[in-house]
Amino acid sequence: MIHNEPEKLIFEQGSAGRIGVDLPEIPSDLKVLPRKLLQTRGELEGFPEVSEPEMIRHYTRLSQKNVGVDGTFYPLGSCTMKHNPRMNERVASMKGWTGLHPYMPVSETQSAFKMLFEFEQMMNEICGMDAFTLNPVAGSHGELTGLKIIRAAFRARGEKREKVLIPTSAHGTNPASAVLAGFTPINIEVDPDGSVNIEALEKVLDENVAAMMITNPSTLGLFETNIKKIADMLHAKGAYLYCDGANLNALVGKARPGDMGFDVIQTNTHKTFSTPHGGGGPGAGPVGVKKELIPFLPCPRIIKDKDGRFAPYFDKQSIGRIHSHYGNFLVLLRAYVYLRTMGDKGLRDVAEAAVLNANYLRVSLAALGYKVPFNRPCMHECLLSEENMPKGVVTLDVAKRLIDKGFHPMTIYFPLTVHGAMLIEPTETETKETLDEFIKAMGEVLEESKETPDLLHEAPHITPVQRVNEAEANHPKKLNLRWKKQ
Ligand SMILES: Cc1ncc(COP(=O)(O)O)c(C=O)c1O
Repeated sequence: MIHNEPEKLIFEQGSAGRIGVDLPEIPSDLKVLPRKLLQTRGELEGFPEVSEPEMIRHYTRLSQKNVGVDGTFYPLGSCTMKHNPRMNERVASMKGWTGLHPYMPVSETQSAFKMLFEFEQMMNEICGMDAFTLNPVAGSHGELTGLKIIRAAFRARGEKREKVLIPTSAHGTNPASAVLAGFTPINIEVDPDGSVNIEALEKVLDENVAAMMITNPSTLGLFETNIKKIADMLHAKGAYLYCDGANLNALVGKARPGDMGFDVIQTNTHKTFSTPHGGGGPGAGPVGVKKELIPFLPCPRIIKDKDGRFAPYFDKQSIGRIHSHYGNFLVLLRAYVYLRTMGDKGLRDVAEAAVLNANYLRVSLAALGYKVPFNRPCMHECLLSEENMPKGVVTLDVAKRLIDKGFHPMTIYFPLTVHGAMLIEPTETETKETLDEFIKAMGEVLEESKETPDLLHEAPHITPVQRVNEAEANHPKKLNLRWKKQ
């Protein structure tokens, strides 16, 4: 109910801890809700009475307890915590965009369709693909969409293939998406240098394989050097090569997955195109395909007719809708603004700086004494293991001590194939000065691990909450995880 006397509502307070306000008479013809459900007196039990400055200070203090990339270096590997330019936000909050409704007549939403159409063209160019759907709302949602497209293509060919091959270094969402799409995921080992083991692939590759999902660059931060050979092997068996393109930030403007032999790719706009970090959604995970898979793309797609008008299009063979309307429109708009501001030269600079920064950290941290398990140039992120730490000091201790030094920890214990993994992704948006401060802090932590290891074991020392019980934090329902004999 709209009350047009805000002063009355705010200042007519009852006793401490509750605000009592007489609400206006409810009109007898009000049919929206049953009368018995309507509140007759505005009593908000348990709310403290505070002034505006007190309330603002409370929420500001709370927000300062939250660590974010706007406050500190946030080198969370496999998450690409790069700066999101404020220009994206400014454009996405313009009334012309926010006032749109998906059910408005097509004639009134031409600019929105034009933006989506142009964004798709740019994505084709960046990835070397023939068409994109912009409808998926997360990277993982894109994975599921891509695999459903592959499934539909086999169905159209009158084939039912069951297996999807996935290297052991892959992100956990890959096997999960394969299962959701109705396939059986099969693990493929990686070599000691981090690339896919070709013999292991040869052993399982048969006519029942629908696709292989490869993350390139991989979650080990490495470029898959055998990618052309793997593509040929898959294609010779009539299977598709799927690219988890979440790490595209290392390649933008430099190399195109479509040219490497990939048939399908999902991208994560929050990892490459500087949109807010919607891991798992709500974000955007556009999916690109090669020509033969276009008919199976989700609908609607945006096409341009011969008179230059844009319109939604539904293909008979499409896998159908995978999200309402046109996907996460304002997230796509932010990514579009990013691409338009960067241009192709800007994007090339991004990939170069992201890779340079990661290699600067790799070499500098190895020189301090940290173990780098794959000793070859990395791409967007560098990987350490706990192997060189003194006995009794583990990866978790290093991560927690970094908090005391003012840094958000790196990703730890992922990828699973490396014991005590520390995955560090600096991104292109960090300066050399910041990287040097981080290297200095990592050097201090290594020294402390030898001289005063308890400083690490008891870290963090400066946060309101110290160490939490990880099992309980991840399983708030307090699952009984004890081993039971059958
Ligand atoms: C390699 C890789 N694949 C898939 C995903 C899943 O993407 P999303 O979090 O958008 O669902 C991520 C997440 O960052 C990732 O790093």
